[in-house]
Amino acid sequence: MATHVLAPFNKPLLGELEIPGDKSISHRAVILGSIANGTTKVSNFLDGEDCMRTVKAFQLMGVSIEKQESTVIIDGKGSNALQEPLEPLYFGNSGTTTRLMLGILAGLPFFTTVYGDASLTERPMDRVIDPLREMNATIDGRKAGSYLPLSIKGNSLQGITYTLPVKSAQVKSAILLAGLFANGETKVIENTPTRNHTENMLQAFGAAISSDGSETTITNIQTLTATNVYVPGDISSAAFFLVAGAIVPGSKLTLKNVGLNQTRTGIIDVLLTMGADLQITNQQVSGGEEFGDLTITYKELNSIVIQGEIIPRLIDEIPVLALLATQIEGTTVIRDAEELRVKETDRINAVVDVLTTLGANIEATDDGMVIHGKTTLTGGEIKSYNDHRIAMMGAIASLIAKDDVEIDDDSSIYISYPNFFEHLKEITV
Ligand code: S3P
Repeated sequence: MATHVLAPFNKPLLGELEIPGDKSISHRAVILGSIANGTTKVSNFLDGEDCMRTVKAFQLMGVSIEKQESTVIIDGKGSNALQEPLEPLYFGNSGTTTRLMLGILAGLPFFTTVYGDASLTERPMDRVIDPLREMNATIDGRKAGSYLPLSIKGNSLQGITYTLPVKSAQVKSAILLAGLFANGETKVIENTPTRNHTENMLQAFGAAISSDGSETTITNIQTLTATNVYVPGDISSAAFFLVAGAIVPGSKLTLKNVGLNQTRTGIIDVLLTMGADLQITNQQVSGGEEFGDLTITYKELNSIVIQGEIIPRLIDEIPVLALLATQIEGTTVIRDAEELRVKETDRINAVVDVLTTLGANIEATDDGMVIHGKTTLTGGEIKSYNDHRIAMMGAIASLIAKDDVEIDDDSSIYISYPNFFEHLKEITV
């Protein structure tokens, strides 16, 4: 537990930051590298707590995974070489590890038990377990197998066609990964597109997968071939500094090598619609993933309504977008974001509580929030709810607050952005 007191800054933020690797892509690189044949080198890997849970899980199943600074080298011997772990797998706070690994473990010929921290233990797993059971998986656990701890007895799986009832890339990914071990065809249909990193990376590892953006099909039992992966910077981490640049007058910040996959760039679309001065340069592609540099220059913005298909493209950025909205004249409305209620914490309640404590005019709704701007933020003592994105939102708010902001516990930040405070320091000199 580490209390963190941040003094107001209220001067322009200037500089350039190299944003750490994407969390979603880092998890997937470890998973596919561990079941592929050959050596996979992952560069710019996110050395955050969540991704290390995935690394540890495969190490406990006998995979040799070495980390040298931000490079991870995986000595893959194919999924047949994975061994039954001798101990329960601890997934900490990581929903991505849990849901994606359930898709893998369901098809492996051994027994596993998995558990997590208090937050993960309360997050719904039936959204993954229901379709996996349709594929013939044997999974049991608390509350009829809907919550951790869970036990998985690997089975021979059968392909299914499944229409996602929730807008979730984790559910889609779990089914596609199980599809690697299933007989026949596995098809996932989504009415609203969610992040497609699993699809891109499966393609890069040589899987026979096809997708038109709404229907994704993977066929038969697959063997993957190792490939090197470059992990672009995480746009969900960049979001904190995009918003910092957008709320502190006089600021100009450049964020280097940020992932620009279209299924993740909702925050860019929102900022541009609000009228932001946001430039994208040095665009490149690696392993099917676009990335580039983002430069945000402070400018007064307009309030908008954020709803519908864009929501999954910015779901993790909503806390910091709510902070941004407090600094915009008019009313910003966020709808269709009920998924926020089952993230690391109930992020609708957490955001409304923290921003209200700091003097914002914000109301919770069932599926989002309504923010009336522009308000001067006070200081105050805020709760992080043990949620990395709430803690970082509070830290960014301190830049424009009138008095100190005290975060009760900043340790969750290691989940996704271990050098967040170093970066904050670099641009506040
Ligand atoms: C993730 C998908 C999203 C996101 C999470 C990471 C992933 O969750 O909120 O931080 O890596 O697939 P859902 O797919 O459950 O919406």
